[in-house]
Amino acid sequence: LAASAGTHEEFLQCLSLHSPNSTSISKLIYTPNNTSYLSVLNFSIQNLRFTSPSTPKPLVIVTPFDESQIQATIYCSKYHGMQIRVRSGGHDYEGLSYVSDVPFVILDMINLSSITVDAESKTAWVESGATIGQLYYRIAEKSKNLGFPAGVCPTVGVGGHFSGGGYGVMLRKYGLAADNVIDARIVDVNGQVLDRKSMGEDLFWAIRGGGGASFGVILAWKINLVTVPSTVTVFTIAKTLDQNATNLSHKWQHIAPKFPEDLFIRIIINRVNSSENGKWTIQASFNSLYLGGISNLIPLMQERFPELGLTEEDCTEMSWIESILYFAGFPTGESLDALLDRTPLTRVYFKAKSDYVKEPIPVFGLEGIWRMFYEDEGEQAVMILSPYGGKMEEIAESSIPFPHRKGNLYKIQHLVNWNEEGEEVSQRYISWIRRLYSYMASYVSRFPRAAYINYRDLDVGVNNNKGNTSYAQASIWGVKYFKNNFNRLVQVKTKVDPGNFFRNEQSIPPFSAWW
Ligand code: FDA
Repeated sequence: LAASAGTHEEFLQCLSLHSPNSTSISKLIYTPNNTSYLSVLNFSIQNLRFTSPSTPKPLVIVTPFDESQIQATIYCSKYHGMQIRVRSGGHDYEGLSYVSDVPFVILDMINLSSITVDAESKTAWVESGATIGQLYYRIAEKSKNLGFPAGVCPTVGVGGHFSGGGYGVMLRKYGLAADNVIDARIVDVNGQVLDRKSMGEDLFWAIRGGGGASFGVILAWKINLVTVPSTVTVFTIAKTLDQNATNLSHKWQHIAPKFPEDLFIRIIINRVNSSENGKWTIQASFNSLYLGGISNLIPLMQERFPELGLTEEDCTEMSWIESILYFAGFPTGESLDALLDRTPLTRVYFKAKSDYVKEPIPVFGLEGIWRMFYEDEGEQAVMILSPYGGKMEEIAESSIPFPHRKGNLYKIQHLVNWNEEGEEVSQRYISWIRRLYSYMASYVSRFPRAAYINYRDLDVGVNNNKGNTSYAQASIWGVKYFKNNFNRLVQVKTKVDPGNFFRNEQSIPPFSAWW
């Protein structure tokens, strides 16, 4: 098909012509002429860095109600030389689901969000526009003993989240969301609707962790639900430097990846004012889910991590679905209905990065991190350390594109956020987190310095968005996210989208005869 840049009027005419039910087209289209264009665009944007007037905006937003409208959007975007950005929950850290610097259309999946749970077969179909909060809610509605191992923030969309891996507090027991996907429906570059059988095992492999945006438009996932006990236990114990935070964090690295897989304890590091003397200190919050009751947890902690001093009073028993509200930060007693609300819980300007740790960081290394948190920008920073081990060690690196398995003690998310608008402020915080990342280099994975695609970071490398991207250029970022799986992803891409229609700053490129 010709790829000359057309106007959005031509694109809209094409869409009316190619949609079976053309009278309803106006209900799913938003252009800058519509009064609701900006509110629809901004609704699911998480990162305020990409809401400024100078951020490139789509010519059209399409919010399909059925798959024929997606087929028409693909056809017409191709025909008129426009790029497509697919958006499900809008949580992309670098805004790739709704920003592009070439003429583009947003395909916003918000209206395709139905969820069907079959408690008997312990499976569910979930459309990609649903959020993980809605999914958890619908599972719990059917059974108290079923759950799903995906992320912590309920407004995250299943479209992007599952296609990049997706982890939460049950990863040590059940792996990633993508590990538990058993079928999918996708619209490919030719507008064909495919399921696992018709897409074949290569493409089905690629979309479970390889980032869906390179391969087509994911319509829905079929997932295996997992068993959860009627009672789980949660706790959060915060320790400052005076309360031994450094040594406890140091010890945690040795033991948390080896705990029984029912026990997940992560550490959230930030800077606070000490309640004792009002001076700054570092706080390490040990934040945990245990898949069982307090009476089993206490002796386990006494045996494995007595230094933390966990007591019964620190712990709360609840149902699995209540623990979802707990980890999302809702106050005790919040109604479960909060999980159905897809309005972002917080909206800030932020920049994040990820790292994998294979050897415990020595005490002096941790102290160097604390020093960085004492800098001005450190007030707004958080570091989240999530233990691996358990199920994550048992799954082969090549099982799905997500390769970070055996040999990783834990993953770090580095995050800094701010509330003030303006390029200068942004640059100040971004350069701080880049310095933190440089500091971390000697303590984390090397060759490659591994990263998690769902914590998207354009600093690790980008494609040439205005022309062809070579294998060598893409492998700079691709090997960090996918290690050896990057090659297979390129092979799949070459087979299913040789013209590289589905592309963005970090999409898998096809091989070309002359690269
Ligand atoms: P969004 O719609 O922005 O899409 C992300 C990417 O996937 C884009 O490239 C997009 O084009 C593509 N895409 C989306 N839908 C698609 C579809 N239907 N077909 C093809 N491609 C599609 N992660 C984690 O593992 N555990 C966690 O606990 C959290 N917590 C968390 C909290 C908050 C506040 C944020 C902002 C993010 C997280 N994340 C996370 C990261 C999250 O997993 C990641 O940003 C996901 O890609 C978000 O998926 P969305 O559908 O919301 O994003």
